[in-house]
Amino acid sequence: MCGIFGIVTREERTLGPVLIEAGRRLAYRGYDSVGCAVLCDDGTIDLRKDVGRVEEVAERLGFAEMRGRRGITQLRWATFGAPSRTNAQPHLDSEGRMVGAHNGNVVNNVELRERFIAEGMTVRSTNDGESCVHAVERYRRAGDDMVTAIRKAANDLHGDYAFVIGEAGDDRLYAIKMGSGLVAGIGDGFTCVSSDLPSILPLTRRVIRLNDGEIAVLDADGVTVVGVETGETVHREPELVEDDMETAEKGGFPHFMLKEIHEQPKVAGDLLHLLGESKHVVPFLEMAGRARHLYLVGCGTSHHACLEGAVYLNRLAGRSATPVLAPQFIAQYGASVGPEDVGIFVSQSGETKDVLNAVEAARARGMGVLALANVLGSTLMNAADHYLPLACGYEISVPATKTFTNQVIAFLFIAHRLGNRDADCLARIPALLEAAIERALPQVEAIARELADREDLYCLGYGLTFGIALEGALKLKEITYAHCEGMLSTEFKHGPLSAVTEGYPVLFVPGPEDVPVMISAINEVTCRGGRAICIAEPDPRIEANADHVVELPAAPPEVNPLLAVVPLQLLAYRLSVLRGHDPDFPRNLSKTLTVD
Ligand code: G6P
Repeated sequence: MCGIFGIVTREERTLGPVLIEAGRRLAYRGYDSVGCAVLCDDGTIDLRKDVGRVEEVAERLGFAEMRGRRGITQLRWATFGAPSRTNAQPHLDSEGRMVGAHNGNVVNNVELRERFIAEGMTVRSTNDGESCVHAVERYRRAGDDMVTAIRKAANDLHGDYAFVIGEAGDDRLYAIKMGSGLVAGIGDGFTCVSSDLPSILPLTRRVIRLNDGEIAVLDADGVTVVGVETGETVHREPELVEDDMETAEKGGFPHFMLKEIHEQPKVAGDLLHLLGESKHVVPFLEMAGRARHLYLVGCGTSHHACLEGAVYLNRLAGRSATPVLAPQFIAQYGASVGPEDVGIFVSQSGETKDVLNAVEAARARGMGVLALANVLGSTLMNAADHYLPLACGYEISVPATKTFTNQVIAFLFIAHRLGNRDADCLARIPALLEAAIERALPQVEAIARELADREDLYCLGYGLTFGIALEGALKLKEITYAHCEGMLSTEFKHGPLSAVTEGYPVLFVPGPEDVPVMISAINEVTCRGGRAICIAEPDPRIEANADHVVELPAAPPEVNPLLAVVPLQLLAYRLSVLRGHDPDFPRNLSKTLTVD
C-alpha cells in the first residue's frame, strides 16, 4: 500500500518541488521509504530514493534540485520486501531506460521475479513494484510499443495495483489502474496522475477518474485513455472538481492529530449542516429503511463506529443491525444474505481493500450497498448505490479522530431518521464536543504522566460505550506502542481480571445509564489493588468507587459516547508524545490499507 504520483510537462524544468509536495500529500499512504525519478530530454534518468520520511529524504538526497520533463514520486508502505533503499520505489528496468513505481500488491511477485531472473533481466530488489517495470520491459524487448507492452504486462501481473511508468526517449508517462485508485489531472502545459485526488487538486481541478482496466497515456497536452482488454481509445471527458480542499497545514498545532481532535466540533457542525440539506440523504435512508437486515461493515476505527451504529439503530429505530469486521463478512454472512439485505460500508478513506472486498461480495449476492466515507470520489463512494459524505476534510494523522466522530454522528442521524424521531439533540453536539475537549485537556495531562511507563492496560465500556472503549484502546495501541485491550466491562471478570495486580491501570467508560453495572466491574478491579480511571459525567456513585475520574460534560445518553472518546484520543496523543513517538505517523501503520 503506497502512493504514486507522476507528472509530464512541456519543457524541461525543476520538478523536485512539485514531486516533494505531491509526496507530502501522499505521505499518509506510506512512509517507510520515498523516491523520486525524473526523466530528462537527453535520455538520462535521475533516480533518488531511500528509507525515511519524505521531508527528511528529500533534504538528504536533494530532491528539490531535480530537473526533467517527466517526474515520478512514490511513497512506500512495505508489503513485498523489507523497507530498504533497494526496495524503495521507483525502480529501473534492466538497462536503466525505464522507470516506474506502483501501489498495491502483485501477488505472484515471487514467481515473476524468478522468471525475470531466468530470462536474464537485472532484478535488484524483492519489491513487487520492480516486477511491474520488468513485466513491461519484457514486451518492450520483444518489440511491442509501450501501450501494448503494458497491456500484456497486466495479464502477467496478478493482484490489485496501479503503476506509472516512463521510458527514456519518449515524452510521455503511462499509468494503469488494475484495482488500486488512480486519478489523472490535466493542467495548463502539464498532465499528472496520482493515487488520490487530494494530491492533484493543488495543481489542477480538471481530472479524469480512471476505471479498473484502463491505461492513461499522459503527454504535456492531454491524457488519452486506453482500454487494457481492447487496446482501443476510450473517450473520457475530464470533469471539473469543485470541492474545496482544505490545505493540509497543522495550523499552529504541533501535530496533525491534535489539530484534528480540535477540529471535531467544527466538522460535526459541518456534517449536521450537510445532512440537513444533502440530496444524498433521502435515497440513502429509503434503501436502509427497506432492508430486510442491515449489516454495518468496516475495519479498525470504522468498525468501532459500526458498533456504535448498531446500538443506535436498535435503540432509536428498533432496527437490528449487525456490525461486522469487513474481512469476516463473507465467512459469517456470505451464504445467508441476499437482495433484500443492505450493507452500510464505513470507511474514512473509501479505499480499504478489506472493505472493498466485502462490497464486491455483497454486490455478487445482490445486496444494496450504502457507504459512509470521507474521501470524496473514493472507490467506495463510486461503488455504492448511495452514500453519505462525512464532511471532515482532509485527515492526515494516521490515527483517525474527527472521521470517527462524524461516522458515529452519521449513524446517530440515520437512527433518528429511521426511527422517525426528533433529532433536535444533534444540534447540541458541536458545542458539547467543544466543552469536552476543553475539560479533558488539563485532566488528561495528569493521567498521561501517571501511565507514561505502563506497557499494559485495559479500556472497558458497556452498552453505548462498548465501541468507544474499543476505539480508545485502538488509539492507545496505535500511537503509544503499549498494549491496551478494549473490552466489554462485564467480560473482564471472565479472564483478564487475572492480570490485575497492585496499581494495574484499567480505564472505564461508564455511560450515564450504565453506572450500576460499571460500579461492579470497577470494584472487581480496585478490590484487587488495581487502579480504576473513569471517563464519565459527574456522578457521586462513580466518584465514590473510582480512583480517578475524568469528567465529561453532561449530555443526552446517546451523545455521551461521542464525548467520551475525546479524553481517550487526547490521552493516547499525550502518552505518545511523552513516550517520544510521532503520533501522526506511528511505526508500521498506514492510514489507507489498499492491500489484503
Ligand atoms: C488502517 C488505519 C486505521 C483505520 C483502518 C480502516 O488500518 O491505520 O486507522 O481505522 O485502516 O480505514 P478506513 O479508511 O477504511 O476507515
